[in-house]
Amino acid sequence: MMKIISTVIQLRSLIADARLSGKTIGFVPTMGALHEGHLELMRRAKRENDLLVMSIFVNPIQFNNKEDLEKYPRTLEQDSSMLETVGCDFLFAPDVKEMYPEPVNEQYDFGKLADVMEGASRPGHFNGVAIVVRKLLEIVEPDKAYFGEKDFQQLAIIQLLVKMIPLPVEIIPCPIVREADGLAMSSRNMRLTENERFVAPFIYQTLKQAVKLNTVLSPEELKRWTSEKFKKRPEFKVDYIEIAEDQLLQPVTHWNDANGVCIFVAVFLGNVRLIDNMRIF
Ligand code: PAF
Repeated sequence: MMKIISTVIQLRSLIADARLSGKTIGFVPTMGALHEGHLELMRRAKRENDLLVMSIFVNPIQFNNKEDLEKYPRTLEQDSSMLETVGCDFLFAPDVKEMYPEPVNEQYDFGKLADVMEGASRPGHFNGVAIVVRKLLEIVEPDKAYFGEKDFQQLAIIQLLVKMIPLPVEIIPCPIVREADGLAMSSRNMRLTENERFVAPFIYQTLKQAVKLNTVLSPEELKRWTSEKFKKRPEFKVDYIEIAEDQLLQPVTHWNDANGVCIFVAVFLGNVRLIDNMRIF
């Protein structure tokens, strides 16, 4: 039976007991509105550890847009029954006062990793992510914590965070999980209208075509090609398209500037902002 816990003190005490009995702990932090992508992280965490802890907390300080925070789907009841199916042991679901009894003013400097893409488009977002992830990791003290590669830049920020602090946890990146038609799974997909949901796989299809063109186009040309593709579809408004190396996520001008390069996009489909990425090599 899964235990639902809402206070830090209770969670700490349960974790201490588990540690005393020698159990390893896998942790999956989420903001709820769970989908198959989250469940994949949890199945893996369950396989690789004795105990699966997950958290659901819609973290207000990582939202730079009030409407996005208000409209973020909250489906705790449905989430809890999904969690039972993957054998989650502890669900930590605190409220805002429990997580932030005092005003928070920590400031992190992630250097140029935080200046690009999501960092540039959503001021303060990664600082809010870092504050909550650090807090959660310090409370749960997991052996391993699992994050999806859809939020590729978030994953890079968290890897840097645990190195900077430092925190004794292994961060496990997990591949993007897609719907049958290619749309990257995201809690925000629930907010798409029927028609928006129908056209949304265009993002995946465009990325899939783009990654094949690196033999004939330069990074700059490929970025332009991708942007032109989206311009022909009025349903989409591009926030950014970047072709960047996979470490500090800086844009590349030549393919041989880096050993690993990915394409990243953020687009608005109606009022919903969707991100996706794909490895070029
Ligand atoms: O990716 C998310 O769901 C959130 O950013 C995270 C890591 C749970 C922090 O609030």
